Amino acid sequence: MQFLGFIIRPKIVSFARFKKVITCGILENTFLPQGKRGFFVSRKFIYQSISVMAETIKNTMLSDRILNMTESATLKMTQLARDLRAQGNDVISLSIGEPDFDTPQHIKDAAIKALNDGWTKYTPVPGLPVLREAISQKFERENGLEYAPSQIVVSNGAKQSISNIAQAMLNPGDEVIIFTPYWVSYSDIVKLAGGVVIPVQAGIEQDFKVTPDQVQNAITDKTKLVLFSSPCNPTGSVYTKEELNGIAAVLAPHEHIYIISDEIYEHINFTDAHCSIGAFPSVKDRTITVNGFSKGFAMTGWRLGYMGAPPAIAKACAKHQGQVTSGATAFGQVAGAYALKSDLGPTEAMKAAFEKRKHVVIELLQQIPGFKVNNPKGAFYIFPDISNYFGKSDGTTTINNADDFSMYILNTAFVSIVSGSAFGDDNCFRLSYAASEEQLREAIGRIHEAVSRLH
Ligand SMILES: Cc1ncc(COP(=O)(O)O)c(C=O)c1O
Repeated sequence: MQFLGFIIRPKIVSFARFKKVITCGILENTFLPQGKRGFFVSRKFIYQSISVMAETIKNTMLSDRILNMTESATLKMTQLARDLRAQGNDVISLSIGEPDFDTPQHIKDAAIKALNDGWTKYTPVPGLPVLREAISQKFERENGLEYAPSQIVVSNGAKQSISNIAQAMLNPGDEVIIFTPYWVSYSDIVKLAGGVVIPVQAGIEQDFKVTPDQVQNAITDKTKLVLFSSPCNPTGSVYTKEELNGIAAVLAPHEHIYIISDEIYEHINFTDAHCSIGAFPSVKDRTITVNGFSKGFAMTGWRLGYMGAPPAIAKACAKHQGQVTSGATAFGQVAGAYALKSDLGPTEAMKAAFEKRKHVVIELLQQIPGFKVNNPKGAFYIFPDISNYFGKSDGTTTINNADDFSMYILNTAFVSIVSGSAFGDDNCFRLSYAASEEQLREAIGRIHEAVSRLH
């Protein structure tokens, strides 16, 4: 073992504060100059002590709120993939949730023009009038939703819209029914606002879609919100008009319950029949519709999302946003208004490419023994059930759950995917097919090979 000698005068030894976690022997005068006392500690010990100290300081410095929060699993896997790549490995990343297409040129040009026209200042907190007007019209034209411009709040991404709603509406103990599997951030956004997550689970055998009866059974006096996405991240499932009608019928009599309908994948819907639950008269006054530019317009980095909400909720969300971030980027909003009014040709082309890849991915995944695969109707994810592999091992690693499975795939096949546990379903993993067909074929080939070693 390698030893480092430290001569530490007693007054400098402030380690006493960390006595509980640090124990070491004091050697007196053995190898040290006369009259000195010192610690003899290994290099490993020093590193461990520093990390324990850092952890101790961090934990006393940080709030319980943040310590109780889970790190975004998708961002974590993406970072692990980057780290492995930096070490020289050929890693294929299928963990990130963004289109691999660039923002259409005409939208970029609109932003450049807006910058040159001087759209560089603060905007009204709920958004520029031109964009709120365009969103109100889009809701009516494409979704049959009635939200006046004053009911629209523009935010720095749909994620902020959902966070605004949670902060504006939830009191501690309020329950939020979340259709599960759910988008990774829903549960932490709700918990951060003091809400209690009530997951309503739907497995692959029901195409990952909850039934009206399941929703009915989850309702209590404390239910404040129902939250779901359709098309869904992570499953790609799309609720039909009939299915949403059934859910609306269950919620209609419960006047204390509001709905958050997250429709950010609206334009990546292979059924061409997107339905907004807010269009049903029985729940229209209690539905908050969230949408944004990230997915349908390949604008993830622009950070532009929005909601249409009942007037009091819209006002409360703007109040919250006004104290934490203010209005979204000015020139981005001008370009966003332009995007909503312009031709959806590039969006349609992107959707067609995703659909083509989806068929390739399904075909390849179905060839892997033990994989259960559904046929997603939207978004750009697939969520195979791999529970058949639980308890199996390659001789070194045993797969006990979806976390083990995703780490096994990352470390042995160099393909990053995301464990279903991050989405509330521990039997599955999420694979994003926002990658080239060549990469998808290579990645799934590697996954196939890696699982063939599990017995
Ligand atoms: C279902 C769902 N809702 C909301 C968001 C957030 O989108 P934005 O980039 O607009 O914040 C995402 C992003 O991955 C998502 O998948």
